[in-house]
Amino acid sequence: MDTYICKVCGYVSFGSAPEKCPVCGAPKQAFNLTADAIHKPADPSNLAEGDRKHIPVIEIRKQCGIVGSGCIDAIVKIGSIIHVMESKHYIMYIDAYLDNNFIARYHMTPSVNPILSLHLKASAGKLLVLENCNIHGRWMSEAVI
Ligand SMILES: [Fe+2]
Repeated sequence: MDTYICKVCGYVSFGSAPEKCPVCGAPKQAFNLTADAIHKPADPSNLAEGDRKHIPVIEIRKQCGIVGSGCIDAIVKIGSIIHVMESKHYIMYIDAYLDNNFIARYHMTPSVNPILSLHLKASAGKLLVLENCNIHGRWMSEAVI
């Protein structure tokens, strides 16, 4: 699927460029078609250490511990080997999409661990999570709710 990147905020749109960026409000003209926007592991069946430090790990919890029924939790961890959060190397943000529609951006600084807890109103669908490392770029993964 084609990926279009907002040159203002880095938001990635899948399939086509939106009329307006849902993160920063930039117009469609601010989006560039970018073929290699998201890193993919060289060998998905044998992940390198760099892959394991960046590919988001998604855990779906059918029962929310805070809101209760009607809320499904998705715990997102970057990655299976936790990524460092240091001033020169850190995860800048995590973006979440439900069925390819943007639902949230979580901005981070080195003061937090690279973990996000999403409380979803949806009871079904495909959750896509994309993270952006300030040095190693964008990585993503998906999970079925
Ligand atoms: Fe990194």
